[in-house]
Amino acid sequence: MIPQDFIQTLLNRVDIVDVIDRRVPLKKAGANFQACCPFHNEKSPSFTVSPSKQFYHCFGCGAHGTAIGFLMEYAGLGYVDAIKELASQSGMTVPEGAAPDPQRVQQVASLVELMQRAAQYYRQQLKLAPVAIDYLKKRGLTGEIAARFGLGYAPSGWQNLQAVFDHYDDTALVEGGLVIVNDAGKRYDRFRERIMFPIVGLKGDVIGFGGRVLDSGEPKYLNSPETPLFQKGHELYGLFQARRAIRDAGRALVVEGYMDVVALAQHGVDYAVATLGTATTPNHLQKLLRHTDEVVFCFDGDSAGQRAAWRALENSLAMLTDSCRVGFLFLPAQHDPDSYIREHGKAGFEVLLSQQIVPLSSYLAKELAAQHDLTASEGKSAFLKAAQPLLSQVSAPGLALMLRKRIAELAGIQQNELETLWKIEFQRKRPANTPLRTPRPAPVSNYRRMLRALLFQPALARELNNALLTLTHPDASALQGVIELLQQHPHLETAAVVEHFRNSALMPQLQQASSEIMVWADDFDAAAEFALAREQIDTEQHNLRTANVASKSLSTLTEAEKMELQQLSRRKVRTEK
Ligand code: UTP
Ligand code: MN
Repeated sequence: MIPQDFIQTLLNRVDIVDVIDRRVPLKKAGANFQACCPFHNEKSPSFTVSPSKQFYHCFGCGAHGTAIGFLMEYAGLGYVDAIKELASQSGMTVPEGAAPDPQRVQQVASLVELMQRAAQYYRQQLKLAPVAIDYLKKRGLTGEIAARFGLGYAPSGWQNLQAVFDHYDDTALVEGGLVIVNDAGKRYDRFRERIMFPIVGLKGDVIGFGGRVLDSGEPKYLNSPETPLFQKGHELYGLFQARRAIRDAGRALVVEGYMDVVALAQHGVDYAVATLGTATTPNHLQKLLRHTDEVVFCFDGDSAGQRAAWRALENSLAMLTDSCRVGFLFLPAQHDPDSYIREHGKAGFEVLLSQQIVPLSSYLAKELAAQHDLTASEGKSAFLKAAQPLLSQVSAPGLALMLRKRIAELAGIQQNELETLWKIEFQRKRPANTPLRTPRPAPVSNYRRMLRALLFQPALARELNNALLTLTHPDASALQGVIELLQQHPHLETAAVVEHFRNSALMPQLQQASSEIMVWADDFDAAAEFALAREQIDTEQHNLRTANVASKSLSTLTEAEKMELQQLSRRKVRTEK
């Protein structure tokens, strides 16, 4: 582990503007710098670098990070190498112990090698297995496509890999997921009698496998377990092969299955990727939006496909921007993309793509409307209640506005009534000293307001005591995380805070919040904003508590609750004055 404080010093010492400008020439734009984004194709610049906060953010594709992150993304360096590179530029030495654990590096490198060797073996075996070749042919695949995706075959037999590797008892084979040890300590190959689909990481290495049975055995697909190389929630099958085609087509298609990706490519639709038997994660979408502005989810027509689509919608909301388009293509119930393109060909499939994509906004509204009885007030209010947590995740201001408009319309109320109901503030009172240039706040939770102010001015954490909040909101967990970090390391500044959460589940919230403060003027009164949001959270919680105690009838209250009620209502009178 590289010490937190070293990263702080390093990020203080280097200027992200220099680091980026050397590689991507920047132009001054107000307090920030801009360029056309190096991580996606665009004509007008939405890639923005903040000299005061020391991070970059692309308002087009969502690419985001510190100087360290930039070097990783742009130059393809690993975390430690990026730090070393920056340190050497500014004459610093990465402290002892910070060097990557050589054993670990060795281990990952040798895992990559093992996977490569296994993939090669499976490919060779495919050539020797007429049953497997027949199977692929029956599914309409040519040798060329099989080669493009490196398809292979794991023959029958329990320990074939013994002949492939010098040391079959090497724990690395177990760690890489190729070999399983049973309770009796006996080792055997994980994949047997299966068509093998190698999963390729972004650097082109094989990082895992999916294996399909030839007949109707169970499980239909067996996947590599999570390993140091392979995390399902981060990888997309076929992305490595599809990168160019995605840029050329201007869109990425997300499907559910290995075979869908391969069959689509067979018919010339080569911009498809698949999630690996998991729901689409925000990380998946973010990865894709780096390559293109348009992502289309195309799931099977069955009810599992419908559920997957809704999950994808839920997990996309926080990642949406006003310049991206996310849509859904619903296939006829008996079809998946593989069977559809086999039956209707590329042309037939592209007709669907040109005519039947349902934009995310319409899908959201339609689906929610279908679940509620919009002819009754009760149905309408339940509909609004269901919509609120979904819409609150959308931070793209234009899209959020359009969604509120549509939801209000469906519920038969005015947009401003809906906004009052959800307490969305538009013309927040400006704290003293705030220049007009500060943008209108997007509708955000009070937690996010606190989080943003804290990222803007981390020193604000010093005024907090521990017993702050009861936290269940996603923005609240991010806020909590940042507060805890700053209580341990009170001198970290914004970029170091963001850097700390590099691989954390809280990253989407932090990324969102830090992109929002990018446009705040340097003398923004973050302390006032912080205090105001905190006060509102207090009030919300107070009101909740009051409503809760007050909803019980007096005779059922315990003595303690009666006292609490008295205190609460006294405070209420005070705050209402
Ligand atoms: P499907 O069951 O829809 O299969 O699983 P499919 O893609 O149509 O496969 P074919 O056409 O019968 O060959 C979709 C995806 O879910 C994961 C795999 O990633 C698969 O591609 N899955 C499915 C598993 O991981 N395990 C399973 O047992 C089944
Ligand atoms: Mn299928």
